Amino acid sequence: MSLAAIHTELKYALSVGRDALYRRCSATGTLRHRDLLFFASYLRPVAGLGALSLTLLLVATALRAVVPLSGKILVDNILLGSGPESLEASLQALHLGFLAPLADLAAGSVTGLVAALCGVMIAIGTIGFVQRYVAIRFQQELSFRLHTSLFDHVLRFPLSYFKKHHTGYIMARVSDDVDAVQALFAQLTFQVFTNAALLVISLAILFMLNPGLTIVIAGLCPVYALANLLFRKRVYAKAYTEREATADVKRGLQEVIAGIDLVKSFSSEDREVERFSGRLRNVFDLRLQQSILQTASGSSVSGLYFLGSLVVLWFGAEQVLHGSMTMGDFVAFFAYASMISGVAIALFTLPAAIQPTIASANRVRELFSMAPEDGVGCDQSALRRLPEVNGRLAFSDVSFSYDSQKPVLRDVSFTVNPGEMIAIRGLSGGGKTTLINLVLGYYAPQSGKITLDGTSLAALDLRWLRSNIAAVAQETFLFNDTVGNNIRYGNPGASHAEVVRAAKLAHIHDAISRLPAGYDTIVGERGAYLSEGQRQRIAIARAFLKDAPVLILDEPTSALDEETEVRICGSLRLLARGRTTIITSHRTPLLATADRVYHLEEGRLVPDEDFTAGAEGCRDRG
Ligand SMILES: Nc1ncnc2c1ncn2[C@@H]1O[C@H](COP(=O)(O)OP(=O)(O)O)[C@@H](O)[C@H]1O
Ligand SMILES: [Mg+2]
Repeated sequence: MSLAAIHTELKYALSVGRDALYRRCSATGTLRHRDLLFFASYLRPVAGLGALSLTLLLVATALRAVVPLSGKILVDNILLGSGPESLEASLQALHLGFLAPLADLAAGSVTGLVAALCGVMIAIGTIGFVQRYVAIRFQQELSFRLHTSLFDHVLRFPLSYFKKHHTGYIMARVSDDVDAVQALFAQLTFQVFTNAALLVISLAILFMLNPGLTIVIAGLCPVYALANLLFRKRVYAKAYTEREATADVKRGLQEVIAGIDLVKSFSSEDREVERFSGRLRNVFDLRLQQSILQTASGSSVSGLYFLGSLVVLWFGAEQVLHGSMTMGDFVAFFAYASMISGVAIALFTLPAAIQPTIASANRVRELFSMAPEDGVGCDQSALRRLPEVNGRLAFSDVSFSYDSQKPVLRDVSFTVNPGEMIAIRGLSGGGKTTLINLVLGYYAPQSGKITLDGTSLAALDLRWLRSNIAAVAQETFLFNDTVGNNIRYGNPGASHAEVVRAAKLAHIHDAISRLPAGYDTIVGERGAYLSEGQRQRIAIARAFLKDAPVLILDEPTSALDEETEVRICGSLRLLARGRTTIITSHRTPLLATADRVYHLEEGRLVPDEDFTAGAEGCRDRG
């Protein structure tokens, strides 16, 4: 084999290895570098608070680290009475000469030592208090930024994402997982820093007290780490599944509460409770398995530590007996070794302990890396906003299907000229709402083209496009807010008089006036306190107020009685004047107001000559 061939082989093997490692890392329990950097970008604005908190923490930790030295002072200097000179000498030997004045004071008597310890404890307590306050501020700020930014990002996902995933599920992913990530950066980072600092300081002091024994203790650290590493991957897998199952519980809960009318009408409360408890049991089992794994990893480290302390006890006691170590050194050494135990357990069980948090962080990252509606990598500034909308809307040979199998629209072509009103009728399930969804840019056609004033919708800024369309959806959604604010939703700056005018045109003003607080009446969740017909008319009033060049009405009168419908048709005719309007409906009075009527049947759009001719007559009379 030639050298070049070997080189190529080697490069290939390395790249395969690297890719495999990369895949393994993303699937199991580590945050990739660039993901960490991504989250770190959220830390930057609050870095000052974080740094302050960390500094205070390190100072308190350093103070805590010197406390066990008091054991040595008590034994060697006070109890065995070797005097302050030897203390100063040993402090010098430990490179802690700067502590000599304090040690002098402390070494004088037991009272002095206790007083000095009290002083140190008060200092540690005060610093700790301030540190916690700063840390909480830091944590809250971080959480606030992450939450807001994730909400902003998720709202820009395509409509299909929201259709596919349930409200409760999305809510769990937007809020619960972020809380966990915040813990990763706020609490866990601090824990790692303190424990690492404590470990380093303690090991350094130990090393000066007795290098040989310190090497034995330090040698155990990798063993702890190794024991823990064995558990990491499994905990991660469990944690990820558990998070998914928890989101599923929330999804079920939200769905049942939203559909409570149905549940009650079918007396299916028991069945729903059973389903809920089944899902909850699943989460419970996963959490239990996760805890068992974590506890096992903790126990393995504790067990190893216990062995380690026996070794220290044995070697240390032997050295004291042979006079190669002072009694005080042994006491201090043992105290440090115990402190290190706690720290080492905390530090080396951490990789397994933080797996649930890393699972959450990866889930948050997944959401952040999903493309918003207008496409990722797509230059936002390249998306067009037309300087003026005339309103010529055209479909040419548009075909569409939701699942790329069963076509919903086939080769649909039509043009609506500015100021024209067309109506589309057809059986339920025929694709009317789908056609409207395409106009609003909720979905893109698989083939064919939709244009507004000659520009393809694909090239337009979708938010701009929608701001130029007033749409009344087939299903009315109202926020749990006042009637007035619901009407004002498309035009938040509208005055009360404008709201009333729109309500009058939608023939809902009288009904609103009869409500307990008129326009200030809260409508309940999804408008629960109103009838369907009232909700529909509020939605129409909303469209009146939006005043956009394109008007789209999806079965806007389906919930109205004939009398109200006929009156609304008059208003709609008024509203549609000068606007490009598409209406879908089965209802004759509404179809009769249109300039042209189409029939949508099995995805094909054909002119409906009968209705169009009838409509001519109607309009001539009107
Ligand atoms: N989000 C969706 N995902 C998959 N299929 C859908 C979706 N929305 C509607 N459909 C299907 O598309 C077809 C047309 O639905 P739709 O446009 O709502 O009809 P219409 O408004 O005429 O009653 C139906 O067969 C329906 O099952
Ligand atoms: Mg429909």
